[in-house]
Amino acid sequence: MKSLLHRSAVLALALALASTTSTTSAQTSAHSPIPSGNPGPASLSNPDSEKKIDELLRKMTLEEKVGQLVQYSAGQPTGPGTGRTDYADMIQKGEIGAILNIATAREVNAFQKIAVEKSRLHIPLLFGLDVIHGFKTEFPIPLGLAASWDPALIQQTARVAARESSASGIRWTFSPMVDISRDARWGRIAEGAGEDPFLGSAIAHAYVAGYQGSRLDAPDSIAACPKHFVGYGAVEGGRDYNSVEISEHTLRQFYLPPFRAAVDAGAATLMSSFNSLNGVPSSANPFTLDHILRGEWHFQGIVDSDYTAVMELMAHGIANDGATAARRAFLAGVDMDMVSSLYHDHLAQLVRSGEVPEARVDESVRRVLRVKFALGLFERPYTDESHEAGAMLQPESIALARTAAERTLVLLKNADMPGQGPLLPLSSSVKSVALIGPLADDAADMLGSWAAQGRPLDEITLRGSLARRLGSENVRYAKGSGILDGTDEQIAEAVKATQQADVAILALGENAAEMTGEAASRAFLGLPGHQQLLLEKVVATGKPVVLLLFSGRPLTLPWAFEHVPAVMACWFPGVQAGPALVRVLFGDVNPSGKLPLTWPRSVGQEPLYYNALNTGRPPGDVDLTRPPQNIFEKYVSRYIDQQNSPQFPFGFGLSYTTFRYANLSLDKSKLSAKDLNDLLHGATKPALTVTAEITNTGSRSGEETVQCYVRLQGTSVAQPVRALVGFQRIALAPGESKKVTFPLGPEAFAFWDALNKFVVEPAKVTLWIAPDSSQGIRQELEITK
Ligand code: BGC
Repeated sequence: MKSLLHRSAVLALALALASTTSTTSAQTSAHSPIPSGNPGPASLSNPDSEKKIDELLRKMTLEEKVGQLVQYSAGQPTGPGTGRTDYADMIQKGEIGAILNIATAREVNAFQKIAVEKSRLHIPLLFGLDVIHGFKTEFPIPLGLAASWDPALIQQTARVAARESSASGIRWTFSPMVDISRDARWGRIAEGAGEDPFLGSAIAHAYVAGYQGSRLDAPDSIAACPKHFVGYGAVEGGRDYNSVEISEHTLRQFYLPPFRAAVDAGAATLMSSFNSLNGVPSSANPFTLDHILRGEWHFQGIVDSDYTAVMELMAHGIANDGATAARRAFLAGVDMDMVSSLYHDHLAQLVRSGEVPEARVDESVRRVLRVKFALGLFERPYTDESHEAGAMLQPESIALARTAAERTLVLLKNADMPGQGPLLPLSSSVKSVALIGPLADDAADMLGSWAAQGRPLDEITLRGSLARRLGSENVRYAKGSGILDGTDEQIAEAVKATQQADVAILALGENAAEMTGEAASRAFLGLPGHQQLLLEKVVATGKPVVLLLFSGRPLTLPWAFEHVPAVMACWFPGVQAGPALVRVLFGDVNPSGKLPLTWPRSVGQEPLYYNALNTGRPPGDVDLTRPPQNIFEKYVSRYIDQQNSPQFPFGFGLSYTTFRYANLSLDKSKLSAKDLNDLLHGATKPALTVTAEITNTGSRSGEETVQCYVRLQGTSVAQPVRALVGFQRIALAPGESKKVTFPLGPEAFAFWDALNKFVVEPAKVTLWIAPDSSQGIRQELEITK
């Protein structure tokens, strides 16, 4: 159980329309994915609170100091716990600094009262919870939110989550998960922003800015906790908690940037991960925690271990007893021990024996107190219980949840129907619908795997919303199967319902709580249970079929992508799933989501990602749809039984309209590596300005996320075939054109070299402005010495 509740388109007309040309500037450019004006790391400390911290440290006993570094779960556990329940007594003695997993103002105040009124030094507790994609107002799962490619929207969702959770006394969320993942087998891919460091960094920043607001001490701000530091998304075989091997170069180029963005945005805390990285468990890794995070990035906040990660150092095999585990984690840079109880049990003794310097304990306590002061907990430790209910599910929060859900839907396929145009949006001639599938009338799964305090609402299901739109007599509902099970009778009912309707809408996919998120790795990525059979039988009726896929990951469904005319990736859309889906299905809203990851054809292709290296034997134009016919087709980097290309590329997503990309221009044809290196370490002015003109060539208004990619060739370290360096979402009326501008900074051309220095080298550069990572208009330029 992972949450407290459950873990459970037409061209001609538009071309005839007068085309307007207007200009838009990059909202999120490659210059930096990070808007300026955020609080920044320095805001965590100020002279006044540092003085108060000095005073407190002078008064604290060693045990009280250690107490600040101890965190227990007082609610529903998210893993094996310590078995302790004597929290009231421990808090009174100053032995606990933070609590997780309680979620109401009343419970929070009850514990806080003990800390503030009964403990010797009156130090308030810090209350944390996994507020991952909303607190009461559940937004789409993070992978879905990432498909919006809309950091500003994500920031707003995080703000709502902060307002609601703070009203319940929760001033700390274990979010955002900024782990890059290239492997859909890993269940936790659902919790992150996908595979790309640039997109991931923009989104990481957005979450932190949303949670923490402009001031951390505002009562409705909560501390962010980017996680899991680091490499967790690269677990071998996609198996959760598994080991990770990533070279320092790859770590720095692909896995660290979103963490850096979160830290630069001022994240007050950070969570160390479960996995080992190159043999060293991340929760005891001095290189990543001390050298990089604190040494290079100057992180001032709290490093919290993941749930029992300190204890797990023993199973990892780097500690044969609890004391050693505590010492290794602490000295590597983990300030707070989540749930293991090993700091509580051993840290004071480790200081007394001289194995851990007390000055190091003081530093960690300072970081904890710093965050408590920064949140204003010393001045306002309590939460006003009378304001709690009113803060939840506000109409504007629900409206935002609907907008967010609409923007996360990715139209994957929309084939023309015989004699007509594309199947979607459903035309007004559709009077009756067969609604089929285990997720068609399912409110709980729509909330996703980390639903915090979310509760299924009346309006949430597709069935309810469709009935409201068409009249319930025109919605022939047949479940067809369960998610994991089903019967022939259920399938027969679904086929019958389809035969009586104009169109069949199938809502198929995964069970959010059990098959996605933590501890939900899958070795098979097809539709579970009888769903594939159900789909094939419904399609066999010959009626038009729309397939809505609900999942925390891409699913490998080659049959569906070949035989079903319209398919949309819906992720888990949250508390406004039903209304959002219906608005998109009927074209009130034009879908605009784009994949934040590469969608594989089969599991054997994983890990599959767009920003890969070319290899020494790229297949070139070899026909990979058939087995090799000769040695030239064989001895290349390929499979003998599968294509290299994905089902859908990173950045892909259709619209009910069409867009034309034209007039790519660069303000320079040559750049100098020397100038770019100077710029890297100095001014922030753009090194290159790229523009292109995008035109809506269809008959509907639509939003398009325009992407900018580069490839560097001739560098000392091989670079990806493409790397995203900018994107922006633009809205275009039918026939309208806009000029998009990407002011690229030096970092768009920089990479980590073999000596792990961030540099620009002379190179041949290819640059694309594109609708996704597999196509686009391109131009070449050169970086000279
Ligand atoms: C997860 C974390 C989560 C923590 C606290 C762990 O099992 O890995 O992502 O924040 O539990 O619930």
